[in-house]
Amino acid sequence: MSDCGRVLVVIPTYNERENLEIIIHRVRVAVPAAEVLVADDASPDGTGEIADRIAAEDGQVHVLHRAGKEGLGAAYVAGFGWGLERGFDVLVEMDADGSHQPEELPRLLSALQDNDLVIGSRWVRGGQVENWPKNREVLSRGANTYARLMLGISVRDSTGGFRAYRATTLQKIGIDDVTSQGYCFQVDLTLRTVRHDLRIAEVPITFVERTRGNSKMSRAIMWEAFRRLTGWGLAYRLDRLTGRRHV
Ligand code: GDD
Ligand code: MN
Repeated sequence: MSDCGRVLVVIPTYNERENLEIIIHRVRVAVPAAEVLVADDASPDGTGEIADRIAAEDGQVHVLHRAGKEGLGAAYVAGFGWGLERGFDVLVEMDADGSHQPEELPRLLSALQDNDLVIGSRWVRGGQVENWPKNREVLSRGANTYARLMLGISVRDSTGGFRAYRATTLQKIGIDDVTSQGYCFQVDLTLRTVRHDLRIAEVPITFVERTRGNSKMSRAIMWEAFRRLTGWGLAYRLDRLTGRRHV
């Protein structure tokens, strides 16, 4: 841990009242030196107030209140910006609902010592999903295959949302101009990292489907991902055809 420097775990939340306290506690136990930033989009269920209460009791927990639901991507851009301004060395992405197990975070952080981005991966050997509905598994595998073919990348789980970035990686790839709102934010940042020739490792994880609250996955999120992925893929091909890119 100390080898990694100061770690900030950013947890985006929208209506995670029943999950927040449990996940923060698990993070604090699993990686005691890490700090936590909850990026809440004014959840109607009062998640933001719960976060405030926890932050008042624990100086390593912080809250970023956002005006309204703007999507996972926008919440992470704001959360990463908050962390970079305050000099954190490592920025971690983690869902609030228990799907990403904090107990696996030390493995991601140790892999970051020789890498610029570490992705907790469901789709490499040793990775798995527990209790995920078959339709979600098909969607995730399909999206990842489409991403690999369209973008010419080899990452197996570019949509995965349990990751650790070096601060320098985020500075190099630039996040201020990210416009991906939904879950395609994950692919967006993966692609930027690949295109900057930075080192990416996939560490196998067990993704456990949530038992409380609801997924925010929607048709709009799927459509945005399909549209953007296709656009990035076509731009990549055009660049190669016109000789602006050789690989
Ligand atoms: N602040 C904020 N704003 N948080 C959000 C928003 C939003 O608009 N939408 C979702 N979240 C938060 C949720 O509260 C949760 O903590 C996390 O983002 C993940 O949302 P889920 O709705 O639980 O995602 P999922 O389980 O369907 O999807 C998982 O798989 C996707 C595909 O692999 C996640 O791991 C995604 O990151 C991943 O892309
Ligand atoms: Mn989830």
